[in-house]
Order: sequence, then C-alpha cells, then structure tokens
Amino acid sequence: MLNNILLIVALIGIMVSLLLQLRYQEYRGTHPNPDRNPERYPIASSNHEKMVSSALSALLGELETFGLRHDQACEERTERMLNITRDTGEFLGCMAIAMRARRILEIGTSNGYSTLWLANAARHTGGQVTTIEYAPDKIRLASDNFRKSGLAPYIRQSYGDAGPILNALDAKTFDLIFLDAERNEYLTWWPAIRSALADGGLLIVDNAVSHAQELSDFIQQVQSDTGFCTALVPVGKGEFIATKLVTQAEYQDPST
Ligand SMILES: C[S@@+](CC[C@H](N)C(=O)[O-])C[C@H]1O[C@@H](n2cnc3c(N)ncnc32)[C@H](O)[C@@H]1O
Repeated sequence: MLNNILLIVALIGIMVSLLLQLRYQEYRGTHPNPDRNPERYPIASSNHEKMVSSALSALLGELETFGLRHDQACEERTERMLNITRDTGEFLGCMAIAMRARRILEIGTSNGYSTLWLANAARHTGGQVTTIEYAPDKIRLASDNFRKSGLAPYIRQSYGDAGPILNALDAKTFDLIFLDAERNEYLTWWPAIRSALADGGLLIVDNAVSHAQELSDFIQQVQSDTGFCTALVPVGKGEFIATKLVTQAEYQDPST
C-alpha cells in the first residue's frame, strides 16, 4: 500500500516537472533571452550605439559601403580609400577616450573615415584631431565628410607631405598619434614621430598584421627603443601600439 502511494507521488512529481519544462520552453520561444540572441542584440552594434550618435553611425555605414565598392572597382592603388575596419575605429575611439587624449595626430586622412572615429573621441575629451593628407581629391572628400558629420570643429586638416610637416612639429605635442600612410616612409619618420609624442603618449600603427613584412624594420626599431613599451593588437588589419615611457616618479607626480 505504502509502495503504491510512493509510486503515485513520484509519478505526479515527474509529470509536474515535465509540464514546467514545457511551459518554460514555450516562454523562451516568445521571450528569447536577450543575452543569447545575437540577432536582436549584436554586441558590435550595442557598443557602436554607446560610442556614436545615430547620425554619425549612418554616415560611417555609408562610408564603409562606399569605401569597399570604390576600392573593389579601383585599379590604381593610390586612388583607393583604404579605410580602416570598423572594429579598428572602435578600438581607436576607446583608446583615445581611455587615455583622455586631447591632442591627436593622424598621418593619412584619405576620405576621413578613421578621422571621424578619432574626432568623435576628441568630442568626448574636449580635444582636437590634426590629420595630414597630400592627395587633393581625398582632402576634398574628407572635408565634405567632416562637414556632414558635424565633427568639423574637432578636426584640423593639414595639407601636404607628412615628412616635412612631421619634422616641423614641436616636441611632446601629441597624446595620441595614428599612423596609416605610406609604409616605406615610417622608418624615416620615426625620429620626428618619437619626438612629437608626449610623455605617456601612444602611437598606433595600422596594417601591422596585413603588411607585417613591410613594417618589420620599423617595428623592430620601435621595439628596440628603451623609451617605449610595445604590443601587437589583433584588431582589424593588426594594430602595433607603442607608448612612450615616463619615469616612476612622473607617474606618481605628473607635474615633475
Ligand atoms: C591607408 S590610407 C588612410 C586611410 C584612413 N586612415 C582611413 O582609415 O580612413 C593612406 C593615406 O595616406 C596618404 N599618404 C600617403 N603618404 C603620404 C604622405 N607622405 N603625406 C601625406 N599623406 C600621405 C594617402 O594619400 C592615403 O590617402
């Protein structure tokens, strides 16, 4: 008799638990867990929305489509836009904001896609981006994009060959330098870039993975510099980063 009662109780327990599981699955069908539903909550897009306004996001999207289509159809390499990837833009923006960079230099504007990411960060930090470009058509395209973006007040366009412009810079004038131009010039430009970086400043170099061979002498030069700490970041086409070291005393008292 007792055995029969226990059996019935156990059967009822199993049925209730099956029923509850069924109801839970039905509920999940109509209420998918947002954290597990990449279509409704793509990580990149939610991150994107936090960092850029919807108007800027739309312009960046347009430039991404334009850049890809234009570059695919373009035979002449110097006429291509060669924009950084979106995740590189997010990386640049986060780095600039994290280090509160106010004085930002970009070498290689093209049509201004990467500049917009840096300028958006400069808007947060109250800073400004100086961006260097020598191709007249790209200067014009960039200028139009800066106007459309509403970020023009945070951007200063510098026209001409980067070499002489870099040589004329005062020492320690930039918190962040983004290098994305003619790679075979980097080694020659290094003394000027080194001097223009503020103490604790950061250099970010694009294409460190995609064009590792072309950049190897430059990267070796920076890596062997005892005044710099370096790393390779696997974002986009590979970002080589180098930060200018300051003494321990300076970290403790930045005014020294
Ligand atoms: C890879 S593209 C820059 C792409 C841009 N940073 C972006 O992601 O939107 C390189 C640009 O650097 C420019 N450039 C190359 N060498 C230069 C130099 N010596 N002085 C000034 N601009 C240069 C090229 O005209 C080209 O527009």
